[in-house]
Amino acid sequence: MAVLATSALLAIVGPAAPASAGDRHDGKTLRSAAPRDLRIGTAVAGGGHHVDQPYPDPFFHDKPYRKVLAREFSSVSPENQMKWEFIHPERHRYNFGAADAIVRFARQNGQAVRGHTLLWHSQNPAWLNEGTFTKAELRSILKSHIYTVVGRYRGQIHQWDVANEIFNENGEYRQENIFIRELGPGIVADAFRWAHQADPKAQLFLNDYGVDWPGAKVDAYEALAKELLAARVPLHGFASQAHLSMRYGAPDQLASVLQRFDDLGLYTAITELDVRMDLPEGGVPTAEQLQTQARYYRTVLDACLAVDDCNSFTIWGFTDKYSWVPVFFPSEGAATVMWDDFSRKPAYYALLEGLRQAR
Ligand code: XIL
Repeated sequence: MAVLATSALLAIVGPAAPASAGDRHDGKTLRSAAPRDLRIGTAVAGGGHHVDQPYPDPFFHDKPYRKVLAREFSSVSPENQMKWEFIHPERHRYNFGAADAIVRFARQNGQAVRGHTLLWHSQNPAWLNEGTFTKAELRSILKSHIYTVVGRYRGQIHQWDVANEIFNENGEYRQENIFIRELGPGIVADAFRWAHQADPKAQLFLNDYGVDWPGAKVDAYEALAKELLAARVPLHGFASQAHLSMRYGAPDQLASVLQRFDDLGLYTAITELDVRMDLPEGGVPTAEQLQTQARYYRTVLDACLAVDDCNSFTIWGFTDKYSWVPVFFPSEGAATVMWDDFSRKPAYYALLEGLRQAR
């Protein structure tokens, strides 16, 4: 299975080394230190919370940022630029500009792309949330959105987060999800089928946070995965976002959670890793906090490395400069692996070291 997985992956996204000049196998960057069958990714900053910040769109305007993005990573995930509110702002209008640019950047730099996301309760446009539609209309809106967006990037997306955050903490379907609420949970299987029709080579994922420890939510995903596989629905992977906070302890059971999905024959992935902490007065983390953070990052990497078919490891931004954390979790921060000026924290070196050892 591992051998097949590697060759299938390479067939889709090509070898990890980019065409551009420079020695990319020297183990001095995250992407070059990684084992061949593991993509190292980051979110690409833009849209979402960035729009309200006092800086221009990072991906388009921050040259040093783009340099690090190309140098360190072999996979990119649009942080917001493929979400409904961004890419489908009006019922009969799509906005592909930023998503196209990211996919082009990825191609030029030998990077895979993780598409994010198709079926979610959040960041949907007002026309969808507030519109009145019959069930048949809503179904056809979802279907044509998936055909249009997935179809546009056919052959260029390594993995799609088809369904994002569909269960609550008790393992119940989230009723905030308009499609699930109005059409019933069977719509999840349809979303996977439509995505597969639109891009037969993309690996199709379930993705959520709060699945780093066993519990009702993980149980719900395991039951759903079994059900979808039994019905021959094209489900290929299960991912933990891994938005961690040092308030809740180390993710020391993650490997065993991922293993449960690996055992079903699925790929697994880490898709949005960050590790936030309570900032001391003055806003600067202590040396001890940075060591703990580094350890959490390393534990998540090691969990992915311990599982046969964990093939993608993505951090949710690489610099604190653009992290969503301070905006969404007041008093917490410093969650990424680099400071604002792109200098490296212990967490960066912990990942680099872990990857080198795994090569
Ligand atoms: C976040 C982005 O980082 C922000 O820019 C945006 O304002 C809100 O969404 N789970 C997900 C991601 O699946 O899409 C979210 O990203 C973080 C939580």
